[in-house]
Amino acid sequence: MQIVLFGPPGAGKGTQAKFLSEEFNIPHISTGDILRENVKKGTALGMKAKSYMDKGELVPDQLLNDLVRSRLEEPDTKKGFLLDGYPRTIPQAKALDEIMDELNRKLDAVVNIDVGTNALVKRLSGRRVCRGCGAPYHIVMNPPKVADVCDACGGELYQRADDREEAIKNRLAVYTKQTQPVLDFYKKKGVLIDIDGDREIEEVKADVINALEEIA
Ligand code: AP5
Ligand code: MG
Ligand code: ZN
Repeated sequence: MQIVLFGPPGAGKGTQAKFLSEEFNIPHISTGDILRENVKKGTALGMKAKSYMDKGELVPDQLLNDLVRSRLEEPDTKKGFLLDGYPRTIPQAKALDEIMDELNRKLDAVVNIDVGTNALVKRLSGRRVCRGCGAPYHIVMNPPKVADVCDACGGELYQRADDREEAIKNRLAVYTKQTQPVLDFYKKKGVLIDIDGDREIEEVKADVINALEEIA
């Protein structure tokens, strides 16, 4: 199964990806997680990406296209993959088409998790993320069993630099302007699946899994 998980910042892409990656036994490829890992390690890519990310701007397309191309060439993606956070511009969507053609693969579905703006702001401002495994939590809506400790790996939870108020506003504006048009691109291709993401985590999970089982 080759899937793109789509949706605005805070929609629950990372949250649902953890479930889907287990359910379908496919790697979860989050471009945001990969970029944050590069920032942490101080790689050349991380140094280029950091200033864009902290402001909530998109990192230039070419860097992302190169990153995704090399990731999809890795053998673990042969059984399928779950892309989270890419593509998020029309040029990226076109680049993904080319990459898939070259690899002789095709996208099975683009799952769009739809959530209203007010809920997004609440989710992002209360989010905490595990330093160890990247699992997302929420201080009220999805708290860990022990405060500031990851249930899955025991790692420390922290607040992302772009989950501050100013950056959140900018990320939502950037989404509307640069990313939303990608939905139409996939609608025309007939691979778009819309999911109401404004519900409990477990309800959203059940819906997404049902929708994907239908096309599997
Ligand atoms: P990225 O890491 O992809 O961030 P994002 O798209 O802004 O999305 P988030 O990770 O913030 O949200 P999510 O949908 O994963 O939500 P989550 O599950 O955590 O990108 C970060 C930056 O990297 C970008 O701004 C850009 O600079 C750069 N970048 C990355 N990819 C790029 C690309 N392709 N091109 C250019 N630049 C790129 O959930 C959010 C919160 O809500 C959590 O607290 C969670 O517990 C809670 N929650 C989840 N579901 C529910 C629910 N159903 N009910 C209540 N609470 C919920
Ligand atoms: Mg995420
Ligand atoms: Zn963890």
